[in-house]
Amino acid sequence: MRLNINGQVMDLEVDDDTPLLWVLREELGLTGTRFGCGIGQCGACTVHLNGGAIRSCVFPAVAAQGTEIRTIEDLGPHALQKAWLIEQVPQCGYCQSGQLMKAADLLSKNRTPSDADIDASMTNFCRCATYDRMRKAIKRAAKEMGPLPVPEPIEPLQDSEVTE
Ligand code: FES
Ligand code: FES
Repeated sequence: MRLNINGQVMDLEVDDDTPLLWVLREELGLTGTRFGCGIGQCGACTVHLNGGAIRSCVFPAVAAQGTEIRTIEDLGPHALQKAWLIEQVPQCGYCQSGQLMKAADLLSKNRTPSDADIDASMTNFCRCATYDRMRKAIKRAAKEMGPLPVPEPIEPLQDSEVTE
C-alpha cells in the first residue's frame, strides 16, 4: 500500500488489516507514537490524519491511503512543545506524544479554549494525572499562537459563470 507519512510518500508491503500504529512503529521505526491499550481507549497512539486526531491502534493502515498522516516526529516546532516545557507537564511521559497531537488538533480549530473545551477535547488518558498542567500549557500555547487565520473570502460567481 502507498502511504503519505510526515510528507513522505512510501510504498509498504503490509497486510490490509494491519493497524496504522503497527506500520508506524514496526515498519517505519516512528516510535514516538505509543502503544497503550490497543483497543482505542487511551489515546497514547494518537496521530493526525488530514490534520485531525485519530487513534492509530484501531485504524487500518489501508484506510489511510490517499490521506496525509502526521506523527509526533513531524509536529514541531510547535508552540505547544515550548508551553509543555514551561508548565512542566510530563511526569512519566508515556502518554505525552498522544496528548500533544490531540492538543494540536484542538488548537487548529480553537485558539481561545476554555477549561470545558479542553476537557471535552482532551480525552486521552494520563495515568500520572497531568490534566491540570496540560490545561495551562494549552492555554499558554493558544495565547502565543494568536487568533486563527481568517479564511479567504469566496468570490461570488459572475452571472456568466452560473450554469443551470
Ligand atoms: S493504544 Fe490506541 S487508544 Fe490506546
Ligand atoms: S505523563 Fe505519565 S501517563 Fe501521562
